[in-house]
Amino acid sequence: MRFRLVVVSLAFVFLALCVAFGQQTPNFSGVWKADPAQSKFAGPPPASYLLIIDQDADKLTETIGTPGMHGDERTIYTYNLNGRPSNNSFHGIPIRMEKPVMEANTLRLESKVGTTPPSAFNQILTLSPDGNTLTMELVNSGGEHPSDQKIVLTKQPDSVGAALRAPEETAGARFKNVQLLKDLPASQFMDTMRYFAFSVGDRCDFCHVQNNFAADDKPTKKMARTMITMVHTVNTTYFDGHNEVRCYTCHRGQHEPQSRPSFQ
Ligand code: HEC
Ligand code: HEC
Repeated sequence: MRFRLVVVSLAFVFLALCVAFGQQTPNFSGVWKADPAQSKFAGPPPASYLLIIDQDADKLTETIGTPGMHGDERTIYTYNLNGRPSNNSFHGIPIRMEKPVMEANTLRLESKVGTTPPSAFNQILTLSPDGNTLTMELVNSGGEHPSDQKIVLTKQPDSVGAALRAPEETAGARFKNVQLLKDLPASQFMDTMRYFAFSVGDRCDFCHVQNNFAADDKPTKKMARTMITMVHTVNTTYFDGHNEVRCYTCHRGQHEPQSRPSFQ
């Protein structure tokens, strides 16, 4: 009996030592708030900027809350820390991160963005020695809107993150004329819009009239609804509800997918 106890306690000591010495990644978990005076944003500083990081051995998830053009916006990035590539998205545009790079108090997350021509989105997270200040560098290069931001954040009590952790308003509740994508959280809906534009290789006004996103005047917007239904049907009927077929599967950045060779 006593022998077993000793073995168990030794195992605990061993585990504790592993945690103390084996852990190379700093832990960024917590609720963080940007200090505008110390930060450098791409444009004017947002009225508020809250970041929640949830990190475990395998994964790091960032949820960023800012006020946006179409109401409060949430941006979510998820990165694998276990060396497997992360297929994630940058405001609806697919990105891919191969491997995190860890140094003492710093974590570099370098992603390729699937734009044509390709661009890059890199994040460098640095934790202060006392663990109360997080510096987040966000560098977007090579694309249409290059930016280099340095956001200095201070640790907040967990309760400050409650609103950002609560389920977000749906697109159906926020917008006037959303018929199919009603149940998507509003920010995910806006990312989907950016993904549509990316997939058909055009801008918002390919489907929308100026200053009235709710209007159904353009045939392309109506066609896009038909396409949403088609994609949903294909995935539920043939792919167990997984999003295997997407807009990009056929469109690849073009208004009309190419169904026949180009015979050039
Ligand atoms: C390929 C066509 C297409 C593109 C490109 C597109 N949208 Fe949309 N948009 C739609 C469709 C379709 C709906 C309606 C979805 C539904 O009914 O579920 C919609 C709805 C919206 C709504 C809701 C309006 C309301 O009040 O009902 C907003 C806001 C919006 N889009 C913004 C954008 C922005 C911003 C962009 C560019 C980043 C964009 N869209 C690009 C097709 C498109
Ligand atoms: C299975 C292949 C396929 C998928 C997936 C697909 N489309 Fe299409 N889409 C087409 C084809 C083919 C056409 C051209 C139809 C025609 O010429 O009448 C088209 C046409 C369109 C058009 C009209 C273009 C124009 O020039 O008038 C829009 C807008 C559109 N798709 C949006 C979307 C969106 C948004 C998605 C994702 C929700 C999507 N498509 C997914 C095959 C696809």
